[in-house]
Amino acid sequence: MIFIEEYPSVYYLSIDYLCYPKNWDMSKVITGFSKLSKSEKINWLAENYFLDKEKGIETLEQYANQNTRLQQLHDEFIENTISNFYVPYAIAPNFLINGMPYAIPMAIEESSVVAAAALTAKFWSTRGGFTSSVISTIKIGQVHFTYEGNKSELSQYFSSVKEQLITATDHITENMRKRGGGIVDIELRDKTEELDHYFQLHVSFETGDSMGANFINSCLEAIAKAFEKESILIIMSILSNYVPECLVRAEVSCKTEDFFPENAELYAQKFVQAVEIAKVEPYRAVTHNKGIMNGIDAVVLATGNDFRAVAAGAHAYAAKDGKYKSLTDAKIEDGYFKFWIEMPLSLGTVGGLTKLHPLAKLSMEILQNPNASELMQIVAVAGLAQNFAALRALTTTGIQQGHMKMHLMNILNQLEANVHEKELIVQEFKKTAVTHSAVAESLHRIRTGH
Ligand code: MEV
Repeated sequence: MIFIEEYPSVYYLSIDYLCYPKNWDMSKVITGFSKLSKSEKINWLAENYFLDKEKGIETLEQYANQNTRLQQLHDEFIENTISNFYVPYAIAPNFLINGMPYAIPMAIEESSVVAAAALTAKFWSTRGGFTSSVISTIKIGQVHFTYEGNKSELSQYFSSVKEQLITATDHITENMRKRGGGIVDIELRDKTEELDHYFQLHVSFETGDSMGANFINSCLEAIAKAFEKESILIIMSILSNYVPECLVRAEVSCKTEDFFPENAELYAQKFVQAVEIAKVEPYRAVTHNKGIMNGIDAVVLATGNDFRAVAAGAHAYAAKDGKYKSLTDAKIEDGYFKFWIEMPLSLGTVGGLTKLHPLAKLSMEILQNPNASELMQIVAVAGLAQNFAALRALTTTGIQQGHMKMHLMNILNQLEANVHEKELIVQEFKKTAVTHSAVAESLHRIRTGH
């Protein structure tokens, strides 16, 4: 059975010409799903997969937008849309970045992230704010191929066609070149020491204000076509989400004595030590960087950018020296506490969903319509801020105090507390530690009187 025609627009083609396993429940398998109308899809799903059909359908309908044009826009982002999946959209105000005030939009489900960002923004706004700068903006794509012939002949062939490879993309790069972007260079790389017969064309690009994934991939496919000949077997042509030359730096600093209301020197030292630990201990580094990505991903998502690409690139960069480590660094020098991040960020402010998704567009407006470099700086600051909040909590009060306070609403919602019960319990837990069982007990007391 071939599914290709069923999904004409996708890049993953599943060609299943073998048999299904014998123990498959064939009633749960369907062909032609994408051709069904939305309600037919939902009905089939309800019939075959929902425990409570009516409730499941009602949930899907609750999350569908009543504005049919808006819903259609979302439907058409992907294949087989049956509803929308919300995450909260929030604002972390009072960021001072390169002397300019910003309110940063964040899309994230984790309770404490926005609160942490807002708190950190406020803290640094009275200590000079964040400074941020873009180091470089080069992106990479590769044509992977195998070749079994004479290496110097390959090299000669490459040199002789290099210009043609670039002109083969002229029709694609024309507009990008007008905006200052395009192909920067093409290198032939011999990878045969790592894998027999494996070579690549390693292509560097400038993509202006677009993330450039489609642009890069189209160029690579045109290059591959122009490069291919009998002795060269093109395996694939694809951009790399590893962008170690698309780099941004953000930093903060203050007098060490201003770091904390009491024992500032000690807490600053503990903070620096926490970063040092994340530079040598991968178990800690992964969690440390996960906290950074809490801030990064939330802004990347809110601006309609590709958070999977950003996360993949960031984690790869964290391991660039052969060992996974912290993306941030810190030191105390001449009475000053300094804290900074340097990381790759491949972002766009045009193309993709950035102008298409109404909330992404609004996020850009809130951020004062940054260009891609400015957005890189803002996003790096969001990551640094998040790491600052986590490390300051970890090395002073511990993470759970703030975290559980923010998580309290989730617990109350899980326990189906009403508005009045919520008010009473929030008040009660202002001074006591939040745990699931303590909140449950308190709710029980309110409800039963003992
Ligand atoms: C939780 O989402 C993130 C933290 O674990 C990050 C960290 O430990 O640095 C708090």
